Amino acid sequence: MSLYAKYVLPRLIDFAMSSKATTAERTRLIPLASGVVLEIGAGSALNLPFYGPAVRKLYALDPSRELWRLGRRRVQDVPFPIEFLQSSAESIPLGTATMDTVVSTWTLCTIPDPSAALEEMRRVLRPHGTLVFIEHGSSPDARVRAWQKRLNPLWKRVAGGCHLDRQIERLIGRAGFQISTLERGYGEGLKPFVYLYRGLARPANQT
Ligand SMILES: C[S@@+](CC[C@H](N)C(=O)[O-])C[C@H]1O[C@@H](n2cnc3c(N)ncnc32)[C@H](O)[C@@H]1O
Repeated sequence: MSLYAKYVLPRLIDFAMSSKATTAERTRLIPLASGVVLEIGAGSALNLPFYGPAVRKLYALDPSRELWRLGRRRVQDVPFPIEFLQSSAESIPLGTATMDTVVSTWTLCTIPDPSAALEEMRRVLRPHGTLVFIEHGSSPDARVRAWQKRLNPLWKRVAGGCHLDRQIERLIGRAGFQISTLERGYGEGLKPFVYLYRGLARPANQT
């Protein structure tokens, strides 16, 4: 791993993901998590302050221990137990149907194999469990999409593998989820970077 990836990138991610706009998005959706929760790509623990009293335990999964360490101070103030799993979402070290909620925020853009990761998320969710997601991805506007395509190669190198134009809704649906709530639209910032998909999904074939 390069020095940039190990020491510089985690600080850049922590800084960029702490913006007012991302915090406002977290405030709306993270309180919906309940029970035993798995957060995918937990990063520097920026969602922690927004979990509500219905959370019993949090598994925070991320391949980067450096990023998680940057969020140490946030971990101290939380009333439920937290277990950090240094792992990739494509292979989640948890049992089948053991989680009440899976949370993924600004992470499907970066995971190398998002389909495999989503299938793993569905596997670990209980049949009536919920996937809570806030992701950025492909814009519906052709001109913006063209910019996303143009910027992708450079952006991936700078931003730790982040893709600007992933088809978030399609990826979630194809992995066997039924999306129950979805809001799409531009957040704050330059359009290619901020087309957001926020919502809730359940494992399909559950009523
Ligand atoms: C843009 S950051 C978002 C961090 C955090 N979810 C947030 O909302 O602030 C992307 C995160 O995805 C994580 N990530 C990268 N590859 C991953 C993988 N294969 N499995 C799980 N997480 C991964 C990164 O380490 C990083 O924490």
